[in-house]
Amino acid sequence: MTYHIAVVAGDGIGPEITSAACRVLDQVVAKFGHSVRYTQVLAGGCAIDALGEPLPEDALKQCLDSDSVLLGAVGGPKWDTLPGHLRPERALLGIRKGMGLYANLRPARLMPVLSGACPLRAETAEKGFDMLIVRELIGGMYFGQSGRGQGEGGTYAYDTEVYSQMEINRIGRIAFEAARGRRLHVTSIDKANVLESGRLWRETIHELAKEYPDVTVKDMLVDNAAMQLVQNPAQFDVIVTTNMFGDILSDEASQLTGSIGLLPSASLGDGTRGMYEPIHGSAPDIAGLDMANPIATVLSVAMMLRMSFGLPEAADMVEAAVEDALESGLRTRDIAWGGPYIKGSEMTEALLNRLN
Ligand code: IPM
Ligand code: MG
Repeated sequence: MTYHIAVVAGDGIGPEITSAACRVLDQVVAKFGHSVRYTQVLAGGCAIDALGEPLPEDALKQCLDSDSVLLGAVGGPKWDTLPGHLRPERALLGIRKGMGLYANLRPARLMPVLSGACPLRAETAEKGFDMLIVRELIGGMYFGQSGRGQGEGGTYAYDTEVYSQMEINRIGRIAFEAARGRRLHVTSIDKANVLESGRLWRETIHELAKEYPDVTVKDMLVDNAAMQLVQNPAQFDVIVTTNMFGDILSDEASQLTGSIGLLPSASLGDGTRGMYEPIHGSAPDIAGLDMANPIATVLSVAMMLRMSFGLPEAADMVEAAVEDALESGLRTRDIAWGGPYIKGSEMTEALLNRLN
């Protein structure tokens, strides 16, 4: 079988980490008698430079024509002063919406070998944690009505948070199903004490929970959740929350694992096609210096193998290669904490060797 992948390398370190991950992907699928065909797609800041817009029509079409999308990172200071509709981030939001990818899955696990990297107290870090954040991705404030006007206080601006039962149900279902493959616990995070949309969120999740009697559900207000994450992260199994809260809490959770350079993510809709990307950004300060850690993108490819291509053994092999490299002490700069480190490309070679 030949899988067709649209690669949105993007900006900054995007090209180096996606090309590393594609090499790993080629090598592992070959073991199972498969191959991959790649289409490079121009989107993000590089598309603004080349074509004057962050998400050219053709780019979305190429993503929709693929079996899955691998994205590096988009954005950088160079494009930070452009108006909202012309920013590189528009590309990301446009692909998510255009492909109907409503569920963003962000696992955050503290690997025992890296427990020293966790910024929490030693006794908390030693307990470890393994959570999956399920973030709604194409609704809420990111896509609600927004605008500006003139009033008594001068210029005003607004963004609105809207969620329908349909949207809450479908993301809730993803979380409950995921919990069934894990530790059977869902924490639903909202702001139901203040927001009407939060109250609908909570009611809808409770109704849905009746279909999953084997899964326990706990509601948590978002401010408390921010606190609980640093106080007792081991309590979380699956977290389900809105687009905006998920954006914020997933950054917090990722930092607890020691390095944002290690964490993958998957964005899925109703079909098997998804978009896979590291959760870190484009890191323009180290672009082209062969310092970027390829692991988050490599682990994103593992998620693709498991969730879109139905090749769990291949995914396991990639994940085992990463764990083995880390256990044998190999470190890129972001996870070296002052100790010796290797280049990004050396990490890639180490992973390829382990897959041989
Ligand atoms: C993320 C990012 C994006 C988001 C930005 C780049 C638009 O922070 O994927 O979490 O806010 O969703
Ligand atoms: Mg974010």
